[in-house]
Amino acid sequence: MIRCFLSIILFLVSTTFFVSHVTGSDVSVGKECFRKGELITAKFDNITGTGIWIGLYPKNRVSDFTNLPGFAEGYLSSWVLSCGTRDNCIWWPQRGEVHFPTDELDYGDYVVVVSGDRAGLDAQAHTETFTVGTNCFDITIPTMDRWIAPGDNDQRSPCPFVNALSNHGFLNRNGTFVDLLDMADKMELIYNVDAGFLRDGPIQLAIDCNQTYEDESGNIRIDIDRLFDDNCEEHEASMFRADSFFGFNKSKQTDDTLLNNLIRINPSSDVLNIEDIMGYQADRIMESRLRNPETEFRDFDIDNMGAQGVFLFLLSSDPTLTTVEKDRLYFFLLMERLPSDFLPGSLRDTPFNPKDETDFIHDKLMQSMANVEIMMHTPIDEVANLSLAGVTLSRHGGA
Ligand code: HEM
Repeated sequence: MIRCFLSIILFLVSTTFFVSHVTGSDVSVGKECFRKGELITAKFDNITGTGIWIGLYPKNRVSDFTNLPGFAEGYLSSWVLSCGTRDNCIWWPQRGEVHFPTDELDYGDYVVVVSGDRAGLDAQAHTETFTVGTNCFDITIPTMDRWIAPGDNDQRSPCPFVNALSNHGFLNRNGTFVDLLDMADKMELIYNVDAGFLRDGPIQLAIDCNQTYEDESGNIRIDIDRLFDDNCEEHEASMFRADSFFGFNKSKQTDDTLLNNLIRINPSSDVLNIEDIMGYQADRIMESRLRNPETEFRDFDIDNMGAQGVFLFLLSSDPTLTTVEKDRLYFFLLMERLPSDFLPGSLRDTPFNPKDETDFIHDKLMQSMANVEIMMHTPIDEVANLSLAGVTLSRHGGA
């Protein structure tokens, strides 16, 4: 029956000399990402003609919607007639919905198209590109645009990535009563870092440091300015904030000079690489040890600072995390605002897990931690000699 119907379709296509593109017809799938197991529901409206099929193509197979690849080319991942069956339609509905299972689909980008009249290969409507992936982001993209600068009474933390979530409304905008475990899940969705890694790491540290409290339902909450407490995760030699020794209030703001120093590294390059960040972080540690008489580092600072250096690359558009664009970094750190083209989960289907030895980010973390540790433990007279030799501080002009 199907073969018979396809023959009819091919006949109709071959006898269709001219099929005009129909304006006003529409098809949409309502979401930008589907997980395997989900059903793709394509709703169509205002479509015209007979012999209409609705098909699912991998996006990279369609270069021209007015000249779709034919059935024989084998690129259609799935198709169905507009009445929802593959046999025949008693009538050809103008409006309705059809469904495509995702179980058998490869991960990747797709489009749904509505054929032309009499099975024509010039689509009368098509969807935007959407993804079948493992790390779908449930919050719709317009939410990403809703960046609002914090008001005077809103709390912010020393962590630019936490603050950006509040500025975009993914966490409470006022920065208080934030559900900490929900924060881990949101961070996995948005920054693509494994939630388990965050729960075992910085989140557990905040809990151990008594920076959190339980609400009536037993959820662990935090008011995010508690993260400035200087007896815990907050540490000296931050990359973008001055040490609190030089003034606590000042230390709560992003320091323009520090940020500019970072961006000025390799002035002729638009990107930074891991060596740039490690050199910069080494400078900050050296500077803090030389100029701040109260500087001291704890063992857990090595893990945290090492991870923080590598985490800057999550803003990159480079899936190998080898480089990060300076313009993305600069605006993110200055405004604590996600880049306008930032697509959560687009770097990789599975979240990065720095503690997983099989994940390449693990080696980057080890490299970054070793760099931090060396600079923390280098005898202070050697640090002074390095500074006198102009190895690093003068390169960035100091802060
Ligand atoms: C995907 C998740 C996260 C990313 C990518 C991230 C990234 C960063 C980066 C790059 C810094 C360095 C800022 C600087 O040196 O000036 C930082 C600082 C910080 N982060 Fe996060 N962070 C994440 C999650 C968290 C979580 C869950 C917490 C705690 C609940 C946290 C607490 C802090 C604190 C306290 C600092 C300040 C350290 C300091 O510079 O003194 N972060 N974070």
